[in-house]
Amino acid sequence: MSDVILGIETSCDETAAAVVERAQVVRSSVVSSQVDRHAPFGGVVPEIAGRAHVERLVPVVAEALVSAGADGDDLDAVAATTGPGLAGSLLIGVSAAKALSLVWDVPFVSVNHLEAHLYASFLEEPDLELPLVVLLVSGGHTMLIFMEDHCRYRLLGSTLDDAAGEAFDKVARYLGLGYPGGPAIDELAVEGDPAAFAYPRSLVQENPATLPDDRRFAFSFSGLKTAVVSHVRGDPEAPTADVAASFQEAVVDALVTKARWAVEATGAKGLCLGGGVAANSRLRERFLDVCGDLGVRAFLPSHAMCTDNAAMVAAAGWWRLSMFGPSPLDTGADPNQGLPLID
Ligand code: KG4
Ligand code: ZN
Repeated sequence: MSDVILGIETSCDETAAAVVERAQVVRSSVVSSQVDRHAPFGGVVPEIAGRAHVERLVPVVAEALVSAGADGDDLDAVAATTGPGLAGSLLIGVSAAKALSLVWDVPFVSVNHLEAHLYASFLEEPDLELPLVVLLVSGGHTMLIFMEDHCRYRLLGSTLDDAAGEAFDKVARYLGLGYPGGPAIDELAVEGDPAAFAYPRSLVQENPATLPDDRRFAFSFSGLKTAVVSHVRGDPEAPTADVAASFQEAVVDALVTKARWAVEATGAKGLCLGGGVAANSRLRERFLDVCGDLGVRAFLPSHAMCTDNAAMVAAAGWWRLSMFGPSPLDTGADPNQGLPLID
């Protein structure tokens, strides 16, 4: 059994490497954020991201190995995110991981970035009981997933347009709050009134049965973003903190309402949160309330485990390797790779 795994993550704007044992013990986790390089442009610039990964990956991997007190001889496998993400960025991590696996003569494991986010929870809470509902909310994805068993997922629903993090980033940009927008809105919303403005909650109704099957667990945030922009255009004096708090409340309402319905419909034993938006303080608060009401176990990863890191890649890699064996070395980067689902 391969136990010590080097994980590499370069799917977007974090260059990360980690050494993890048996998907449980994080021996090191190094994340080099490029946020300073992208901030002047108000979003991630793919060309800049690719170049930064080239510069930073070798020192980041070296630091992860040194902090873990490990070298090539101690490693049993190398796992890297192969998708979804930015093509140029993914290629850098995937090529490095394959080269290291050849040099060290250990298996290479291809990891799906979304599956890695799911495994972030297990790293901090290895005895989480399955089945679980996972609400995965990041800059690129918003999905409700039923995790039946390890590496066995069913997609209950996802966003029809913008991801929740994307909506936070776009609204923050419009309000002049900078990039990344999620943390800026979260911070400002503390001073605002979440009931100041009644922004729309798309695809949310009193009774879930009144929604068509394919919309019941789906999300939509582009109408909300447009509603905020047209409101602020028409009412430029509206206090920005109230706008931020009311917008955040509308996003969180939709997320927790559907997560509640998903637990009720599946009989899951717990509810897990994952992805960058899982760092949102209001979402965390409301999420705990819902789990308390439903009497199911709540799991909220730490802030470091919500955002992109390589420890979660190594953890998902360990499960993939244990259950399905190594990935072929001709596995490429796939920018649109979907979560591996069961029928
Ligand atoms: O998972 P992640 O690090 O990268 C992707 O895989 O997308 O998520 C980044 C997203 C960004 O949209 C960022 O604005 C959002 O997570 N985010 C937050 C918070 N912290 C990060 N959104 C709301 N509240 C936060 N505190
Ligand atoms: Zn992510």
